[in-house]
Amino acid sequence: MKNIVVLVSGGGTNLQALIDAQESGLINGGRITCVISSKEGAYALERAKKHGIKSRVIPRKEYSDSVEYSKAILDALNEEKADLVVYAGFMTILDELVVKAYPYKMMNVHPALIPSFCGKGYYGLRVHEEALKKGVKLTGATVHFVTEVCDGGPIILQKAVEVQSDDTPEVLQRRVMEQAEWKILPKAVSLFCEDRLSVKDEIVYISE
Ligand code: GAR
Repeated sequence: MKNIVVLVSGGGTNLQALIDAQESGLINGGRITCVISSKEGAYALERAKKHGIKSRVIPRKEYSDSVEYSKAILDALNEEKADLVVYAGFMTILDELVVKAYPYKMMNVHPALIPSFCGKGYYGLRVHEEALKKGVKLTGATVHFVTEVCDGGPIILQKAVEVQSDDTPEVLQRRVMEQAEWKILPKAVSLFCEDRLSVKDEIVYISE
C-alpha cells in the first residue's frame, strides 16, 4: 500500500473527490495517510477530520522564504513516509529541493488544458477569468507530475470541458471541477498507485 500525502490550501473539493474515490474502492494500491495544509482554518482540514484522516498544518506565513518553507514541507513528507504527494488546490510554489527529493512522485491538478492558461500567476479563479477573456470554447483540467518548472511537468491525464457563452468565472470553475478535476485526479492517483505510470523523455506512458 502506497502512502498518499495530500497538500491543500483551501476548500479541498479535490481532496473530497480523492476521499470519495478511496471510500468507493477506486484507489487501488494506495491510501491517503496525511493531509498537509499551508493555511490554518482551511476547510480541507475539516474534510480530513470527518473521514478520520490525519492532518498537519504548516502555515506558509510563518516562514520567511520559500526555501525555509520547502524544508519544513520536505521534513513532514519524509516523516509521513510519503510514496506519492498530491497537490490538491495547494497554492504555494515549493523550492526545487522538494521536487528533487520526490522525482515523478508529486502530482498537481491544474484547472486548464496545459499548456494553456498555466504557469506563475495562473491559479484558482484567475485561470477561468483568463480563459473567458480569451474566448476559448473548450477548457478543462490537467493532472501532471510536478517538476521545477511551474505547471510544466509531464502530463498524466487531461479532460476537456465546454465553455458556455454566459459563463462567469465561478460557473466555469464549478463545471471544470465537476466534469474534469474530480474525475481525473482520483484516476491519476490510482494509476500511480497501481504502478501503471512511467515517464520517458518527459512523456507519460500508461500501461494496461
Ligand atoms: C482547483 O480548481 C484546483 O485545480 C486549483 O485550485 C482549485 C482548488 O480547489 N489549483 C490551481 O489553480 C493550482 N495552480 P479545492 O481546494 O476545492 O480543491
